[in-house]
Amino acid sequence: MPLPETDHGSLMAVAAYIADALRGRSAVAYRTARAAFRLALRVSAPVANLPRSVYRTYRHFRDPPYLPPASPREFPKVRTFAQTIPHLLQAHREQDVLFRKILREYRFLSADPCDPIRIVQFFHLLRAANALPAGDYLELGTYGGLTLKLIHKLMDSTRTLYSLDTFEGFDERDLVVEKTKYDYKPEQEWFSRPSLENVALYVGDGKAPTNLKLVKGWFPDSFKGLEHLRWRLVHIDLDLYQPIKTALETLWEPLLPGGLMLVHDYGCYGFPAARTAVDEFSNSIGTLPIELPDRWGTAVLRKPLAT
Ligand SMILES: C[S@@+](CC[C@H](N)C(=O)[O-])C[C@H]1O[C@@H](n2cnc3c(N)ncnc32)[C@H](O)[C@@H]1O
Repeated sequence: MPLPETDHGSLMAVAAYIADALRGRSAVAYRTARAAFRLALRVSAPVANLPRSVYRTYRHFRDPPYLPPASPREFPKVRTFAQTIPHLLQAHREQDVLFRKILREYRFLSADPCDPIRIVQFFHLLRAANALPAGDYLELGTYGGLTLKLIHKLMDSTRTLYSLDTFEGFDERDLVVEKTKYDYKPEQEWFSRPSLENVALYVGDGKAPTNLKLVKGWFPDSFKGLEHLRWRLVHIDLDLYQPIKTALETLWEPLLPGGLMLVHDYGCYGFPAARTAVDEFSNSIGTLPIELPDRWGTAVLRKPLAT
């Protein structure tokens, strides 16, 4: 039952006094004070009418400082976290609908159902790439086509998307090098053998897109004949040291000024080579990668604009 109008101010003042007195004493006292204050607020006068000192306490509990818990045990167990859809996507109906559609499909198919941030990243990075002078798009490491489809959906559809993969998993020539550098044992069988036809049908929602070129073979051999092309965006998802390093060295030059080079697994301890290859390459050209926060981490190298 609401309190009489005249009692509101004093109720709030008492609650604010208690809250202030308890603030900082302990996490439990703090939460109790906060709960009491919020309860008082619910039965109290509109916020606009609060006395200044009470309003300050109101603001404190509305935008609380992030006090550390008294003991680490007070941290709730967190395995995943949710992020609401970024405003930039939600504010544009078409983008919002597309994002939700892609997210639903990705959740259904992916082994990483909790990586919506990677999808958001592609929205932003492809928007940046699409604004560049004429150039094409390239994915190295496609497997079944999950990220290839994302790129295809978001890229400038007047341009071509190339995908290079053995479509038979890792190559022995790369595995030999990997085993000399790291003591984990990647195997060729980690990836099954997707048919190129199925990948194209998947990317095109049942109809192979005319602006998609799938090239089967071992990279760098498979790159022969593509040397003349200029790239707006290159997505490298090859997992192993040798092909990632070679890809960076081969593709930096034909990347357009302002072009984007993304290397997946930069934050993945399962594939430590991605970070080594990116750091070595960045160092050799005198730049630094930016690390993005998707599940396995993505490094971005953006080529400077021509001066
Ligand atoms: C992690 S998977 C790619 C995942 C894919 N981007 C997706 O969204 O599902 C890595 C792929 O890299 C390919 N690969 C690794 N080394 C390669 C090389 N030297 N040449 C061509 N393909 C290679 C493998 O065949 C495998 O399909």
